[in-house]
Amino acid sequence: MILHITLLSYVIVLFNFSLCLCASCSCQRLNQSLHIECRQFDQQEIRHCLENNTDAIEVYIIKSGLTSIPPSISVLTSVQLLDLSYNYIQEIDKYTLSSIGGTLQVLIMSYNNVSVLRNGSLDKLVHLKEIVMDHNCLEEIELDAINSKSGSLCNMQFSYNQMKSIDLSLLFVPKLYEQARVTVNVSNNLISNGTNNKGFRISNISLNNRFFLDLKVNKIETVDVEYFLQITHIETLTDLYNLGSSGIDIRFNPLICDCRLFPFSFYVNFFRFMDKYNYLFEFTCNDPQSLRGRRVFDVPVNDFNCSVQNDCPPQCLCTRTVSLDLITVVCDKDVLVSIPYVIPKGRRIQMFLHSRNVRELSDRPYFKNVTDLDVSSCSIASINENFLHNFETMKTITITDNSLTTLPKSIQTVNLENLTSLYLHGNPYVCDCHSLWLKSWLKKNGNKIPDLEQVLCDTGPKGKPIVDASDADFVCDGINISLILAISFGGASALVLFVFAIYIFRESIQVFLIANYSCCQCLRRKVATNLPFDIFISYSSHDEIYVQEVLIPNLKKHEFRLFTQDNFIPGVPITENILRGIDSSFTTLIVLSNRFLESDWCKFEFQQAYDKALKERERHLIVLILEEKLDKTLIQGTLKSYLKTNNFIKTSENRYLSRLLLALPRMQVNIGPSETTPLLREIFFQ
Ligand SMILES: *[C@@H]1O[C@H](CO)[C@@H](O)[C@H](O)[C@H]1NC(C)=O
Ligand SMILES: *[C@@H]1O[C@H](CO)[C@@H](O)[C@H](O)[C@H]1NC(C)=O
Ligand SMILES: *[C@@H]1O[C@H](CO)[C@@H](O)[C@H](O)[C@H]1NC(C)=O
Ligand SMILES: *[C@@H]1O[C@H](CO)[C@@H](O)[C@H](O)[C@H]1NC(C)=O
Ligand SMILES: *[C@@H]1O[C@H](CO)[C@@H](O)[C@H](O)[C@H]1NC(C)=O
Ligand SMILES: *[C@@H]1O[C@H](CO)[C@@H](O)[C@H](O)[C@H]1NC(C)=O
Ligand SMILES: *[C@@H]1O[C@H](CO)[C@@H](O)[C@H](O)[C@H]1NC(C)=O
Ligand SMILES: *[C@@H]1O[C@H](CO)[C@@H](O)[C@H](O)[C@H]1NC(C)=O
Ligand SMILES: *[C@@H]1O[C@H](CO)[C@@H](O)[C@H](O)[C@H]1NC(C)=O
Ligand SMILES: *[C@@H]1O[C@H](CO)[C@@H](O)[C@H](O)[C@H]1NC(C)=O
Repeated sequence: MILHITLLSYVIVLFNFSLCLCASCSCQRLNQSLHIECRQFDQQEIRHCLENNTDAIEVYIIKSGLTSIPPSISVLTSVQLLDLSYNYIQEIDKYTLSSIGGTLQVLIMSYNNVSVLRNGSLDKLVHLKEIVMDHNCLEEIELDAINSKSGSLCNMQFSYNQMKSIDLSLLFVPKLYEQARVTVNVSNNLISNGTNNKGFRISNISLNNRFFLDLKVNKIETVDVEYFLQITHIETLTDLYNLGSSGIDIRFNPLICDCRLFPFSFYVNFFRFMDKYNYLFEFTCNDPQSLRGRRVFDVPVNDFNCSVQNDCPPQCLCTRTVSLDLITVVCDKDVLVSIPYVIPKGRRIQMFLHSRNVRELSDRPYFKNVTDLDVSSCSIASINENFLHNFETMKTITITDNSLTTLPKSIQTVNLENLTSLYLHGNPYVCDCHSLWLKSWLKKNGNKIPDLEQVLCDTGPKGKPIVDASDADFVCDGINISLILAISFGGASALVLFVFAIYIFRESIQVFLIANYSCCQCLRRKVATNLPFDIFISYSSHDEIYVQEVLIPNLKKHEFRLFTQDNFIPGVPITENILRGIDSSFTTLIVLSNRFLESDWCKFEFQQAYDKALKERERHLIVLILEEKLDKTLIQGTLKSYLKTNNFIKTSENRYLSRLLLALPRMQVNIGPSETTPLLREIFFQ
């Protein structure tokens, strides 16, 4: 029995002991500070510990699994520092906190899960000096959460959170009117923008006061100077002095050094001038690539560029340089077939255009604002008369490496007083009796032509600078008398050879004659027609510029009646319009390009025209290849076999327009009863 009782009490003792061991929380008092740490959250144990230490001045409840501020802190009578780091607290409960508001000076809540600091949550902490909330998931500090009620607040640590924007009212704490340094640390957040809803001004700071706003390692890409000026709002020397002892740290942000940052960079340079060695000015550009790592104050003013999308032709890159009030347009893709009609507006424009498909230099309205024009490495063979007046207003013009054989003669009457440089080399200038004037013009204006000595003759005194060639070398080929003599006296064999040669090269000769003398139209086939149109042009809308500017004007010169997309009847299905075009034109002219090959409509047009040509032998199909390199994978089916077995014309060939003309018959319109095929095929109505 006794044994039994002893055993039982032993068990009870053991049980008690194990209860002690199982206590979740340790509660340690060291002088004035109380440390609580729970392996497992236990509301009751924390309360007991606090109740036994109500006079503690520093209370640490860390790594204790708290999900909210424990209500039992209300028993503390003189706590000045409360550290609740490394818990899972999501909300700052203002009612709980208010119970210690009479004494609390430092609130530390690092490594918790607070996502919003709410308006009013700190209002009762009238003696609060510091709030430390780094490593939470703060997305927002509500307006007024920090306000004038926090009478002594001067250190706010909110680094390593998720804030995207910051309001400067955070600086509006009463301390800013006393002799103190107010720190707001929002480094390592996601801040890209700032607001100033309470109208904070530097001038609100009293003399000898300072603030420090730590915005390091955020997502600031640009600084809106309006905003910056709003806060600095420097009116007096005192303001300036105040700013000098305050600081905003925006280092380690992905700043984009473009036109938006330019006004700010201007101020940066201005302030840095007064405080050269301040590390706060060491922020760098992250973009563009060419400026990455450059300190903003080191970036030359002319590098703050922005790309301009509005009105920028798709084949070009347009940039604005604010410091120079300059628009730069660079078009260096060969898809460009003419000088763009519209580019971004600007007071001063520079244009660089290089495309092997641009063949003429003609005027554009915006040229009046272009100071520098570079059209080198195009295929410009002629300068339109209407372009010439631009020589009077532009500063530099570069037409090197083109196909110019001469300049328009009327350039002699152009006043070049405003032109500083004209570059002309790399063109196949013809030096003959017709271009002697060019030599004297070049000589006269040599001071404007830096590459004068590289402007060479390509015929006559070939390879010589035009200005150095002797006048006597500028001759025109007369009729080759010796050839005539040879034919006259060389007998029949020579004549036969000659005729044979003409026969072999008849096409080239015809093309040459048509191209150069627009004579010998008689060589072309003549066809009587009673169709309403001569040519239906089938092309991709992407080649519109080429067709409208080059093809149509050239065909119209020869009085063809063209059916283009302009003749489409609005409201009628596009298939019907196409069929109507093909049916009512003698020839279908296909402008073949990769864009054409990619378009289902275009392929449809080709197929219809092909069928038509097969059915009606008299009908005509001509393929004009616009591009140097057609994408072979796109050429399929009928088109592939057509191109294999039929002739086509390439725009890259010499005198292709004449070649095309030769391929087109001369049309003689028959006036009489119409025998055209029905305009629309019935199948399409079924
Ligand atoms: C506790 O306070 C005493 C006297 O105030 C001091 O000497 C001692 O260093 C303190 N101990 C700790 C751990 O702060
Ligand atoms: C706290 O004080 C109570 C008595 O008020 C006592 O029973 C308890 O053991 C004490 N607890 C600690 C952890 O000191
Ligand atoms: C607290 O935040 C951490 C990290 O953000 C997260 O892993 C954890 O699940 C959150 N805990 C609670 C209780 O919300
Ligand atoms: C913050 O709360 C106070 C008191 O409830 C209120 O007067 C004030 O308008 C609130 N501020 C904002 C910005 O909501
Ligand atoms: C801001 O917080 C970061 C990280 O916690 C720290 O490195 C930095 O020194 C703080 N800055 C200021 C001014 O307190
Ligand atoms: C910054 O925020 C203001 C106000 O919310 C807004 O008007 C402005 O467009 C924002 N700026 C940027 C760059 O996001
Ligand atoms: C801050 O300064 C501005 C002008 O400098 C003034 O209008 C405003 O009332 C001031 N605000 C405070 C809270 O002092
Ligand atoms: C900005 O534009 C100017 C003028 O076109 C040019 O000289 C400069 O290289 C450009 N800078 C950058 C960084 O793009
Ligand atoms: C040319 O510059 C003037 C201002 O000098 C401007 O008003 C006009 O819009 C500009 N034109 C173009 C086409 O950029
Ligand atoms: C040269 O430039 C000046 C100033 O822009 C202008 O007034 C003058 O008309 C220009 N000269 C010619 C020939 O266009």
